[in-house]
Amino acid sequence: MKKLIVGNWKMNGSTEMASQLVSGIAAGKIDNADVCVCPPYVFLCGIAAAAKQAGIAIGAQDCAYYPKSGAYTGDISASMVKDIGCRYVILGHSERRQYHAESNEVVKNKALRVHEEGLIAVICVGETDAEREAGEHISVVIMQLMESIPETASGANLVIAYEPVWAIGTGKTATEEDVAEMHGIIRRFVNEKLDNPEQVRILYGGSVKPENAASLLAVPHVDGALVGGASLKADQFLAIIAGAA
Ligand code: PGA
Repeated sequence: MKKLIVGNWKMNGSTEMASQLVSGIAAGKIDNADVCVCPPYVFLCGIAAAAKQAGIAIGAQDCAYYPKSGAYTGDISASMVKDIGCRYVILGHSERRQYHAESNEVVKNKALRVHEEGLIAVICVGETDAEREAGEHISVVIMQLMESIPETASGANLVIAYEPVWAIGTGKTATEEDVAEMHGIIRRFVNEKLDNPEQVRILYGGSVKPENAASLLAVPHVDGALVGGASLKADQFLAIIAGAA
C-alpha cells in the first residue's frame, strides 16, 4: 500500500492562499504516495475541484458530534463534509483534545458519524511530555486507542496518527527508536482488534519536515505522515511527499 501524506493546515490560510497552495502541490506532485489536504472548512469548497483534478484527496479537520443536520449552531456534520467531496476527517487531534476538552468518548462518537457516511477517520493519539517523562506513554496511547476507536472501524475506514504532543509545532521530533517502538505497539493493537488490519495506515506526526521526512517514513510501521506547519508551503510539502518514495 502507498504511504499517505496528510496536510493539516489548522487555522491558517485564505481563499487565495488555499487555491495557490493546492495548485502548487498539483504542479509538483509525484505519484508515489496518496496525498490529502485538510484546510479549514471554509476553504474546502474553493479547492475541491482543483484537488480532485490533481488526484489530491481533501479532508476536514473535525466534524460534529451530532448526526446529519439539526439545531446545532456552529457545527458542521460528517454528512456535510462528505457532500462537498471530503474523503478523510481528522479526529481527536491533540489541539482539539486540549482546547475543546475532547475526550476519547467524544472522539469515538465523531468517528461513528464519519463511518456512517462512509468516510475515513484519521484518529490522532499521542502522549504529553509529562506522560512520557513518567514512563506512561505506552499506556496512555493504548487507552486512547481502546477508547477512541469505535466498533465500526476496519481497514476500510480508519487511519491512526501517532503524534506525541510535545513534538507538535515545536521543532522537536521523536527519535526513530521512539517512533519504531510506538508504531510497533499500535500495529499490534490494530492487528489484534480490527478487520482488514493490513489496510490501516499508521501515520507519524509532529514536526515532520523535508529534512526528516525520508528517515521517519522509513521507520518500520510508519505508513505515512500527518504534517502541520510544513504543509503550508507547497515546496516543503512536496519534499515530504517525495520522502515517501
Ligand atoms: P506540526 O503539526 O507538523 O506543525 O508539528 C503536526 C500536527 O499537529 O498534525
